[in-house]
Amino acid sequence: MCGIVGYFGKREAKDILMNGLFRLEYRGYDSAGIALFCDGDINVTKAQGRLKELEIKLNCENRGSIGIGHTRWATHGKPSDENSHPHMGCEGTFCVVHNGIIENYMELKEALQEKGCDFLSETDTEVIPNLLEVYNTGDFLETVQKVVSMLEGAYALCVLSKEFPEEMIVVRKASPLVVGKCDGEYFVASDIPAILEYTKDVYILEEDEVAHIKNKTIAFYNGEGNAIDKEITEITWDLESAEKQGYPHFMLKEIHEQPEAVEKTLAGRIKDGTVQLDLNLTDDFIKSIDKVAVVACGTASYAGRVGGNFIEKYLRIPVEAEFASEFRYNDPIITDKTLVIVVSQSGETADTLAGLREAKSKGAKIVAITNVVGSSIARESDEVIYTQAGPEIAVASTKAYVTQLIALYLLVLQLGKIRGAIDAAFEKSWIEALIKLPEQITSILEQSDIMEVYAAGLKDYTSAFFIGRGVDNVSSLEGALKLKEISYIHAEAYAAGELKHGTLALITDDVPVIGIATQKHLLEKSISNIIEVKARGAITYGIGFEGEGQLRRTVDHFYPIPDALEDFAPILTVVPLQLLAYYASLLKGNDVDKPRNLAKSVTVE
Ligand code: G6P
Repeated sequence: MCGIVGYFGKREAKDILMNGLFRLEYRGYDSAGIALFCDGDINVTKAQGRLKELEIKLNCENRGSIGIGHTRWATHGKPSDENSHPHMGCEGTFCVVHNGIIENYMELKEALQEKGCDFLSETDTEVIPNLLEVYNTGDFLETVQKVVSMLEGAYALCVLSKEFPEEMIVVRKASPLVVGKCDGEYFVASDIPAILEYTKDVYILEEDEVAHIKNKTIAFYNGEGNAIDKEITEITWDLESAEKQGYPHFMLKEIHEQPEAVEKTLAGRIKDGTVQLDLNLTDDFIKSIDKVAVVACGTASYAGRVGGNFIEKYLRIPVEAEFASEFRYNDPIITDKTLVIVVSQSGETADTLAGLREAKSKGAKIVAITNVVGSSIARESDEVIYTQAGPEIAVASTKAYVTQLIALYLLVLQLGKIRGAIDAAFEKSWIEALIKLPEQITSILEQSDIMEVYAAGLKDYTSAFFIGRGVDNVSSLEGALKLKEISYIHAEAYAAGELKHGTLALITDDVPVIGIATQKHLLEKSISNIIEVKARGAITYGIGFEGEGQLRRTVDHFYPIPDALEDFAPILTVVPLQLLAYYASLLKGNDVDKPRNLAKSVTVE
């Protein structure tokens, strides 16, 4: 996904911008560029491909202490040098980097073309510097504000102008942006790690806000154009925590951080043997909830489905768990008695945010589960339960998923207590199970070599099936997603009981099947389904509790998870599935942390 960096100060901007762009690499990108102010001119260098290509093009003439940079992930127009940012207007005066999408760019482009503007790229972005040139009033801030009022869509912008050499303007609309400050220097970034080595003091721009850096001072304006005061937020995590710490990949590091992440997410939320989530929702509202909707994308949506399963099972409230991209356009049935649970690691996923807004506009109360403090989703929700996973860098989500599950268990307990749906004995049993999880996850990690061996057996297949029932079916979905994302093996997750209604036709000795069976009341049924696929020649792998013998005896290869309350199986089964995907990807020689075509944070629709 696109990334923005900007620097305004006294040092060589090129080095700071390139450093920042390297820090943003994990977000995924296909091209990059920087623009530097030098001797009254703006010097733009861009390159398709990895940042190394851009580095090759830069030389000692690329100087200046004010500049902007960008990593692009193509949305309008293919990856190419021309389509890379920064973009200049055709008069060569204004220069812009942009994250997000300008939805009305076609009509703006046509109008600009009629006025004689020549476009060099296929991007939506290029309309912005051209509009700035056409509507230039001679006042930088006024010009940017005027042009921004003409743009529809979601975007973050960082703008330079040859006419205003000692100034830089940044604009945030539905796409994150921060400005860091340190000793008269300013560092702009769409993602905090890009600037963390220079400063921990940042201004987090809110919706529609504009920051104007001029002659080493900064001023802020709201969407109406009025000057506002902003407070500095101190970032408490350091760069080291965003780096690999000796692991060969971020993904493996993050898998191994899960015991600690679970502990941190539980910390302070269980007091005197009871869950104490201080929800900003009245007891009256909680008792009145007649529907829960879970809105999320990707891995986060599977965490939401597990949570939804327990809400139905124990709270007996109907749950609708849908991908946010479907939910937002399905005219969902939402009332003021609906609780919407929004799950998002980044807190910035465009579809999830749009789903949140749709639900909110219909009167629902929103509880967000997110990993990023101050993210858009956190700010727009009625209540936020922060996961304490720390920065997650690998595109394939692992520790974020597990901590999302922890947050959901806590939420189920808190809501259940207030609604009188669960008693003290139930709460005690869940809390005991939650507290044991870090140790149990550690024991799974200690036997990672089993999954490495299984991955070696799987890596040369082109297709695999993951089957399960109930919450095991959700874990199958997440296991299959992990394998697809990073090993590029086609993997299909199927409700085990549904296999015989068509999909069984695909099972041959060329299609291994991974069966997850942890739920006692479904065990016999799941094992029958595994026997069905075995009979069609499939090699079978089973994941089940250590103390359970039937599954172990049925499958060709068994993976034991520590014995626990079966409600906690979704956490214990997903860890080996993450390892399976990791090792399959590694053995295939893939780029584990940055799988092709995928991005960590999808801030466009
Ligand atoms: C992208 C990532 C996934 C993630 C999904 C939702 O597709 O590659 O790993 O699950 O977005 O992201 P979120 O930040 O909302 O959890």
